[in-house]
Amino acid sequence: MQQTFKLRKFIPDDLQGVMQINRVCLPENYSDFFFMDLHQRFPETFVVAEENGGEIAGYIMCRIEVGLSNYGFGGLIKKGHVVSIAVMPQYRRRGISFALINRAVEGMQYYKAKQCFLEVRVTNDTAISLYKKLGFENTRTINGYYSDGEDAYVMTKRL
Ligand SMILES: CC(C)(COP(=O)(O)OP(=O)(O)OC[C@H]1O[C@@H](n2cnc3c(N)ncnc32)[C@H](O)[C@@H]1OP(=O)(O)O)[C@@H](O)C(=O)NCCC(=O)NCCS
Repeated sequence: MQQTFKLRKFIPDDLQGVMQINRVCLPENYSDFFFMDLHQRFPETFVVAEENGGEIAGYIMCRIEVGLSNYGFGGLIKKGHVVSIAVMPQYRRRGISFALINRAVEGMQYYKAKQCFLEVRVTNDTAISLYKKLGFENTRTINGYYSDGEDAYVMTKRL
């Protein structure tokens, strides 16, 4: 299928559209301040997918953190943390998330991150297969990570 979306950095005018996608697609919702703060601090890793008609179909937002390497780099390194990613149901399975993550990874590399990681519900098979396809591997499980008590896998990719 021909690609009908384009990626671009989030701009403040996208806020309501992105918050709506977040509400429709995920149980973890955030305040407008939270979205804008990530945009202001890490604009290179807050990316939206815009469909032909201009509608926002999906987004990814991340932050850069400092932590210990999972890959034996030694000492503290910068890591890109995927905070939230979602694509509206009608635009799924067109490669949008795949493209969003790859673009966010470029942003993480711009910020000199050496790893990318994220948490995912252990039952979210769709997202887990997406991340595996992108080369992420399970590095640990966090018991009761989500507010409803579900466990999370931490999945990590070397950049
Ligand atoms: C997970 C999600 C972001 C995937 O978005 P998407 O744009 O549909 O994903 P893509 O089209 O880029 O899929 C890329 C690959 O991921 C895997 N994948 C995606 N959806 C899948 C599904 N329903 N079943 C199995 N594998 C799937 C496939 O390997 C796919 O490649 P393929 O289509 O060539 O087989 C989307 O389903 C979503 O928004 N879900 C709700 C929110 C969510 O769970 N976010 C992640 C929280 S950690």
